Amino acid sequence: MLNVPNHVAIIMDGNGRWAKKRNMPRLEGHKKGAITARSIIKKSGSLGVRWLTLYAFSTENWARPDKEKKGLFSLMVKSLSEELPLLLKEGIRFRMIGDKKDLPEGLIKIISKAESLTKGNRDLNLSVCVNYSGKNEIVKAVNKMLNDQYHLEPGSKSSSQGEFTFPKIDDLDFKKNMHSSDLPEVDLLLRTGGEKRISNFLLWDIAYSELFFTETLWPEFSEDEFCDILSSFNLRDRRYGNV
Ligand code: IPE
Ligand code: IPE
Ligand code: MG
Repeated sequence: MLNVPNHVAIIMDGNGRWAKKRNMPRLEGHKKGAITARSIIKKSGSLGVRWLTLYAFSTENWARPDKEKKGLFSLMVKSLSEELPLLLKEGIRFRMIGDKKDLPEGLIKIISKAESLTKGNRDLNLSVCVNYSGKNEIVKAVNKMLNDQYHLEPGSKSSSQGEFTFPKIDDLDFKKNMHSSDLPEVDLLLRTGGEKRISNFLLWDIAYSELFFTETLWPEFSEDEFCDILSSFNLRDRRYGNV
């Protein structure tokens, strides 16, 4: 029996190259990628993974052509609407991590609907990172702490309380102020598509993750390869600095 990681995070990369190889528009790669996402979500649930976090759109992805972004957001609306019954049936709690502001209204609406309808689900916690930046998430947590505890607004020069002593903050306090505050540390971080980089994904929670990179492009990534990766994860010796 597979001893599955508690939290798997995936950088779903390679949709564009998959389409290009077939002389198809990039959006076709994203469409096929959405089908892969569905199968990996289902598989994760059936294997007993408790937390699955998927990277769908980074703040850097705003640099892409308008046509691709528009297509991607429409695809997200369509997929999320179609998959909502699956989320409910399989006991999957859905949430989005990232900045909702700047996303199209229709997308914000369906995200909020999926978040509230699945709030009570406990079998698999699915987080999808959209308009997400790991650096921004950390900086926002700092601003939140200053604002909540000292009523300091970004840009303000002095505190209404005058002199103050800055508290000692440990990493647990810090984490509480992050958007992803209730996500546990990532055990397994996987990137498809061959690139060996993090691209501003979950910087804080991947501090001690086991990293896996595969050349397979996301639209071609299979449940079998996913299971192989989970098996190799089991063989990793996680020493956490110990001997
Ligand atoms: C990942 O696939 C999906 C998003 C970033 C939205 P890409 O679109 O980056 O695919 P490649 O890397 O160009 O092949
Ligand atoms: C990372 O992929 C972001 C997502 C998968 C959503 P990119 O394709 O945008 O990353 P880079 O450009 O290769 O770093
Ligand atoms: Mg890419």
